[in-house]
Amino acid sequence: MQSISERFEIEVGSPDETKRLGERLGRMFRPGDVVSLVGELGTGKTTLIQGIAKGLCVQENVSSASFVLMQEYKGSLPLYHFDLYRIENEEDIGYEDWLYGSGVSVLEWGEKALDHLPFVHLKIVFSYLSQTSRSLLFVPKGEHFLEMINRLLEKP
Ligand SMILES: Nc1ncnc2c1ncn2[C@@H]1O[C@H](COP(=O)(O)OP(=O)(O)OP(=O)(O)O)[C@@H](O)[C@H]1O
Ligand SMILES: [Mg+2]
Repeated sequence: MQSISERFEIEVGSPDETKRLGERLGRMFRPGDVVSLVGELGTGKTTLIQGIAKGLCVQENVSSASFVLMQEYKGSLPLYHFDLYRIENEEDIGYEDWLYGSGVSVLEWGEKALDHLPFVHLKIVFSYLSQTSRSLLFVPKGEHFLEMINRLLEKP
């Protein structure tokens, strides 16, 4: 059984390292997976998603237009990229259509949709360490993500 407090911290030394980590994660995702990214401005959330998109074989360039709340990309699985920076805390944009769909949902500022997230999801907390390094704290909720993070940490 997973203990409630299980968490894993990884330090990444460059944007490319963050992207590579995202790419490996992207290859592991299954239909319906939900990932919540939490962290201050400029801590690397979009950078990680660019890697995830690569891992999911998305051809388009992934960026963050903060006036678009959800952007869908075609890949080996659909990628639903949410950027909730500008959303009001209680606003419901119809999350259920995506979060319980067949794609992979990745939410920047995911804490703003906390009431809509399924219990089983992967939370990643980003912290600024220095100009080029960040800490990524993985908090897997549910066996599937616990197993995924264990595999992610097995082989760098
Ligand atoms: N180790 C690192 N990992 C990720 N980004 C890094 C790292 N070191 C430096 N950076 C830089 O930090 C910035 C991170 O920007 P990014 O848009 O990914 O952050 P964000 O968390 O999505 O920001 P926002 O909250 O504005 O959406 C980029 O300019 C990137 O090059
Ligand atoms: Mg961003």
